[in-house]
Amino acid sequence: MSLKLADKISLTIHDIAFGGEGVGRIDDFVVFVPFVIVGEMVEVEITEVKKNFARAKLLRVVTPSLERVTPECRYFTQCGGCQYQHIDYAAQLRFKHKQIADLFERVGKISREVVAPVLPCPSPYGYRNRIMIRSQWNGPAKKLEIGFIGADNKFVVDIEECKIAEPAISEQIKNVRANPPPKGGVKVVLRIPPEGWDVPPDSFFQNNFFLLPKLVETVRGFLRDGGAKHLADLYCGVGFFGIELSDLVESFVGVEYDQLAIKSARRNLVSRKITNGEFISAKVEEVLPELMQKFSAEKTSVILDPPRKGCQPETLNLLRETRPAQVIYVSCHPATMARDLNILCADGVFELARVQPLDMFPQTQHVECVADLRRTNLASQHEMNSTV
Ligand SMILES: C[S@@+](CC[C@H](N)C(=O)[O-])C[C@H]1O[C@@H](n2cnc3c(N)ncnc32)[C@H](O)[C@@H]1O
Repeated sequence: MSLKLADKISLTIHDIAFGGEGVGRIDDFVVFVPFVIVGEMVEVEITEVKKNFARAKLLRVVTPSLERVTPECRYFTQCGGCQYQHIDYAAQLRFKHKQIADLFERVGKISREVVAPVLPCPSPYGYRNRIMIRSQWNGPAKKLEIGFIGADNKFVVDIEECKIAEPAISEQIKNVRANPPPKGGVKVVLRIPPEGWDVPPDSFFQNNFFLLPKLVETVRGFLRDGGAKHLADLYCGVGFFGIELSDLVESFVGVEYDQLAIKSARRNLVSRKITNGEFISAKVEEVLPELMQKFSAEKTSVILDPPRKGCQPETLNLLRETRPAQVIYVSCHPATMARDLNILCADGVFELARVQPLDMFPQTQHVECVADLRRTNLASQHEMNSTV
């Protein structure tokens, strides 16, 4: 059967792909459908046909899954922020775990067994401490829309509250709406500042305070097990991991290219009276060669917490050459993480000991992962080979 735009068909959903779309098949041809659950039979309308797959919009759920629940948000399916509000929370965690294990196996060439179950967020709604509100002039309706980019990825959907944001943020949305920006195209960041941390308004900070203690505990456990004396906290923002873990090492250094964040990191260090760390304002890829010369590799752990696009190839290559004792990779994007882990582990240079996913972003397609990589005995293997 060849599919055409606007065809109406029924299909059964077999999987939920990374990104949140359900996967159905018509004669082995893949059809992606949003807002569905594995096992559901659905009626859909084809909206896009490509060479190897099609996309469709959901018309009707014929046989609903037992894991289907009522979304809390009235904008769900129009707003582009959430993909999973229709799925029971325990099932969301299961689907995310499978997506990570699939990506690690396919992209990372890594055994899915290393991926632990996803740690849940104690507050699956009302958790986000930072959101970005956009505005866009709606010509036909002659109205300024104030809200989030829609699920269509084109237009701003007008919203009055966000159910995944902390309630105090929804209060701030009311203020923005009461004093609207004069024109479209304006972005306003709303955030609740973290207690005890100096953070510039536009700099990064972890955006879920509810699961943050578990994230720190996870990285702390990995670092303690690694037993290194020195820590390089790369992509350090306002110094969060380096400062939180400073008691575990003799010395640490944080690297970050956001100069205002580094100024805050230094203030965060001073306000806690921590004296065994320093912060460098630079691009990781530029400063890493010098840094790895300073620390002896076998006594050093490196934390990588890059943005969604992952690490620069030169950063990964340098880590492969210098081979620190441990690399703890923290990521909010499992696909780029799997790609980078594959590079780090190629030829057995590093070994992936374990991966702990944490649901820092319930109701959405996103998930955080922390990986513990150890340097292997490659050098001694080479030596043994050369003496044989
Ligand atoms: C996901 S955030 C992590 C921040 C920090 N580890 C934390 O937990 O708060 C990534 C950070 O990397 C910084 N960054 C992105 N590319 C960089 C680069 N090439 N060199 C240095 N810093 C970079 C960003 O400014 C951002 O602060």
